[in-house]
Amino acid sequence: MMIEINQLVKRYDTLVALNHVDLQVAEGEILGLLGPNGSGKTTAIHCMLSLLRFDKGSIQLFGQKMTADNYAVKARIGIVPQEIAVFEELTVYENIDYFCGLYVPDKKKRQSLISEVVALVGLETFTSFYPHALSGGLKRRLNIACGIAHKPDLIFLDEPTVAVDPQSRNKILESIKALNQSGATIVYTTHYMEEVELLCDRIVIMDQGQVIAKGTKDELKDMVRTSDRLTIDIPFLPEEVHKKIKAQLSFEDMHYVDGVLSVTSTHLKDDLLPILTILQEANLTYGKISTKEATLNDVFLEITGKALRD
Ligand SMILES: Nc1ncnc2c1ncn2[C@@H]1O[C@H](COP(=O)(O)OP(=O)(O)OP(=O)(O)O)[C@@H](O)[C@H]1O
Ligand SMILES: [Mg+2]
Repeated sequence: MMIEINQLVKRYDTLVALNHVDLQVAEGEILGLLGPNGSGKTTAIHCMLSLLRFDKGSIQLFGQKMTADNYAVKARIGIVPQEIAVFEELTVYENIDYFCGLYVPDKKKRQSLISEVVALVGLETFTSFYPHALSGGLKRRLNIACGIAHKPDLIFLDEPTVAVDPQSRNKILESIKALNQSGATIVYTTHYMEEVELLCDRIVIMDQGQVIAKGTKDELKDMVRTSDRLTIDIPFLPEEVHKKIKAQLSFEDMHYVDGVLSVTSTHLKDDLLPILTILQEANLTYGKISTKEATLNDVFLEITGKALRD
């Protein structure tokens, strides 16, 4: 395990920001920490990094207790903070060089690391720019480059794609995948469920300081009973054919209203063909077929009664 958190409690005065959080991150995985604003994602990261003291529980990184002066552990960690933290007085190159230099004293080695990270985040044509001359998306990429240039084994990225253009967003997601493929373990916080679906091996969903669900994307989706929905436009569906479909296949829910047959099932992929076969055998015409897979928002909705992004 790269990270092992047990029963972590963090209070800000009377507000319980983390309420008995358990979290494990295995070597080589991308863990998505998904939750709405104020759910405790940043607080959890800051506790892991010893930037914040916590009230109860334990945190181990690389199998060791993390403390504020454990420099051996710190050198193996990369941090990309939620708020962009770069020096306005330094160019893109100088900023990366500064942060990398905190861990890599050798200048030659640093030069090659900087070239590598500049290419990774796609800032090749901007190395002599000052931050104020960069777009929001490019500045985010610089923020990332500063946090990861020293090739850390464990990287924390706190909402790195907020308010960036689609091009930068894709570049950032690509870079994170590449970092992971070259061996880094990644903790990625976001409130965009599409990103965790795309990027993450395992997902932890937080709300109001608590871990409310965790698992792989499929495990989480299996938790919601309203799993997958299929609708087929069928202008005319005789009662006996409706019954036949019902008898042959066991659905969680099935109804025919206003020329549309709706089916809810956990095995839609296996169910579609038999339904169409029955319709064809009865010489019935059908129109549009659409399926809607359960989303992580459905999972969140099921557990908390509210939407992930409200
Ligand atoms: N320094 C602080 N003092 C008091 N309360 C705080 C402090 N930092 C955070 N909080 C509160 O703790 C809770 C968790 O905040 P946190 O920033 O960890 O959430 P988050 O999931 O990172 O949210 P966001 O998506 O907005 O970044 C919130 O209710 C927040 O208002
Ligand atoms: Mg945050």
